Amino acid sequence: MTTFTPLRAGESPTISVLPSHQLSKINDNIYGGFTEHMGRCIYGGIYDPDNSNKNIIDENGFRKDVIESMKELNVPVVRYPGGNFVATYHWQDGVGPRENRPRRPELAWLGIESNQFGTDEFMKWCEIVETEPYLALNFGTGTLDEGWLEYCNSTQDTYYANLRRQNGREKPYNVKYWALGNECWGPWQVEQMTKEDYAKKAYQWAKALKLLDPSITLILCGETGHSSWDYHVLKECVKLDMHSLGGSTTQSLIDMHSIHIYTASDDPVKNALAPRSAERAIQICASLIDLARIENKVPPTAPQQTICFDEWNVWDPKRAPGETGAEERYTLSDALAVAVWLNVFVRQSKYVGMANIAQSINVISPLMTTKNGLVKQTTWWPLLLFSNYMRGWTIGTHLNCSTYEGDAEPAWMKTSVDTPYLDVSATVNDGWVSMVVVNVNLAESFKIEINGITEKTKLVHRYVITGSSWDVVNTEDKQSVGIQELTWDGRGKCEFPKLSITMLRWSI
Ligand code: AHR
Repeated sequence: MTTFTPLRAGESPTISVLPSHQLSKINDNIYGGFTEHMGRCIYGGIYDPDNSNKNIIDENGFRKDVIESMKELNVPVVRYPGGNFVATYHWQDGVGPRENRPRRPELAWLGIESNQFGTDEFMKWCEIVETEPYLALNFGTGTLDEGWLEYCNSTQDTYYANLRRQNGREKPYNVKYWALGNECWGPWQVEQMTKEDYAKKAYQWAKALKLLDPSITLILCGETGHSSWDYHVLKECVKLDMHSLGGSTTQSLIDMHSIHIYTASDDPVKNALAPRSAERAIQICASLIDLARIENKVPPTAPQQTICFDEWNVWDPKRAPGETGAEERYTLSDALAVAVWLNVFVRQSKYVGMANIAQSINVISPLMTTKNGLVKQTTWWPLLLFSNYMRGWTIGTHLNCSTYEGDAEPAWMKTSVDTPYLDVSATVNDGWVSMVVVNVNLAESFKIEINGITEKTKLVHRYVITGSSWDVVNTEDKQSVGIQELTWDGRGKCEFPKLSITMLRWSI
């Protein structure tokens, strides 16, 4: 958590960190990914068997460079197969001999789905990447008896478990994370639902799924975390079901609540600060979870539900429409926004059980494939820094600096969220303090006193991400934004350049 006081006349700005104040454990799953059958995410991203450059693909048709990048990011969990795509997806179309798999009209993004990549391919890819699969169920045209959970996890002598064996996989995949639909509230959704209809259906599906496999983690479909949909579905579904839980008061039927937010603004400062609205959304949603538990008298023995922020990023669908692949070209301002997003998850680690950048490859992604290689967009670099270092525990931090006074995006932020020019979070892990400071000011650098670096510290590692202007981008020919590795002796003030992300790391 980072507290904030605005700079008053005569004060000089400070950041104070207290490494011994370990506030909450950061779940590694906040560095999760998301791959959807959309644009070039699966076909041409993960799976590229027709690429004439055979050096770039493995024997499965998977892009080797994408696999390496996922490993470099140490992605712990990947959501699949959508997104909006899942509302008309029947998993059975994507298993078994490839030549028998049907081509289907795809209604979310108005394409054709060849089904050449499906469940078994995704599981294999996850094993190679050393990440955990997270599957979303079809709440649009799907039915409860379609048997995907049985196919993936069952060890019994039953139809879908045997189908998996027949398709070459004896051992169960033991998929832990299952989402009860995706954005079922959205007007763009095939089989859009009212909150009442969704809550009823989700609760019944949850019961049946946990009867089949009580070890799974079930994720309820929320909206933004601050809507009446969130309130209603939590109220109706976060309760103890003594039947499906075998009389247990130490388990919860619903384990997590999913929320989605995309931020964007044409104004670079508003754009970089917009993810702070997601911080408020997390706080409100955490309160709604508490409220449902209080109103439904859920005993404290039942595990607390956490937030699964399973789609987040900078995205303006008018600029990069989903139907044409949503290939956003990210600027330095967007990289700052991504760093603020990640600071939010670190600060709110008490409530966030998982977060998934939408998406991992090509579609609104930090990573773009070309025929022969990859472009690491501006947003790749903060993600890499965070995933490598911002793990462990969130520590107590206080910031005193000047405030951005202009309008905010979304507008409601203006009255309920602080907007200091610097955005800060700090962690402690394995004897190292890591602190990220994002300076969203377009014109001004700040020299800041850091309280918490002791006399004992001789060396502070300083990683800086910045660029010549807010709208600079990385291309195939030129990587304008990357990480500069510097050092500092920890004495005096530290300078945070205008439009920059700085990570400071020192051992304690
Ligand atoms: O990530 C792109 C799309 O955004 C997803 O399919 C959907 O869930 C959201 O609206």
